[in-house]
Amino acid sequence: MSFLSDLKVLYHLTMKPVRGQSHAARLESFYSGQAAAYDSFRRRLLKGREQLWNSIDEPAGAVWVDMGGGTGGNLEFFGDRLSRLKKVYVVDLSPSLLEIARHRVQEHGWQNVQPVEADATAFQPSEGLADVVTFSYSLTMIPDWFAALENAYAMLRPGGLIGVVDFYVSRKYPQDGLNRHGWLTRSFWPIWFNSDNVFPSPDHVPLLFRRFDPLHFDELRGKVPYLPLVRAPYYVFVGRKPNSTVGD
Ligand SMILES: C[S@@+](CC[C@H](N)C(=O)[O-])C[C@H]1O[C@@H](n2cnc3c(N)ncnc32)[C@H](O)[C@@H]1O
Repeated sequence: MSFLSDLKVLYHLTMKPVRGQSHAARLESFYSGQAAAYDSFRRRLLKGREQLWNSIDEPAGAVWVDMGGGTGGNLEFFGDRLSRLKKVYVVDLSPSLLEIARHRVQEHGWQNVQPVEADATAFQPSEGLADVVTFSYSLTMIPDWFAALENAYAMLRPGGLIGVVDFYVSRKYPQDGLNRHGWLTRSFWPIWFNSDNVFPSPDHVPLLFRRFDPLHFDELRGKVPYLPLVRAPYYVFVGRKPNSTVGD
């Protein structure tokens, strides 16, 4: 980590225009110039990722799909667990970030990890069903996030686990038991993140609660590098796909 590499990331986050005719092209326009510095900056910005990984109790021999997995930085959180998994897919649309993921996999000699260039709204593992699907700060960057969640739901075996960590804002009137953010929080963070095509939503959490049986849910706030006075709201959710669902 150096101030110079931070400056490069900050330039991409705040000044460089994002161009492209498609979602994939816009992502690559955003990430290609900052891919090498991604991990060190996001380690300080994207909180709760290790907590999410530690909150997921996957079965031995599991197939795990990490949607929008980027550089594969989260693979480091597996530790010894990784060798007990059958397969981990790191699914992403940005070739520059996937290149870093491929280097990481090669360096560690991980045989059961496959970075895949694909859309989270459409990717399906060749095994047919997955045991775990994770979204780590990717749901807010997927325009058709509802399609991505439906795709995750479809690929999960009954009883399979979904894990999500991401920025969000609460609904003005959230369901009982959930935090309510004030007007400033609900207004500021969407505007702040929208310029980078990140869309913190009041609707991600309610849909997760509706489709999955919640096992773990935390609502937190984290520091943002170079913004000393504010804390960005984020959540960590782990849920289980019900074993049988009427209408499925
Ligand atoms: C903020 S980054 C998070 C990366 C990684 N999960 C992490 O925790 O560091 C969001 C990621 O979502 C990816 N992404 C956005 N839309 C996508 C889509 N439709 N399909 C696959 N990946 C997508 C981006 O390319 C990017 O790598």
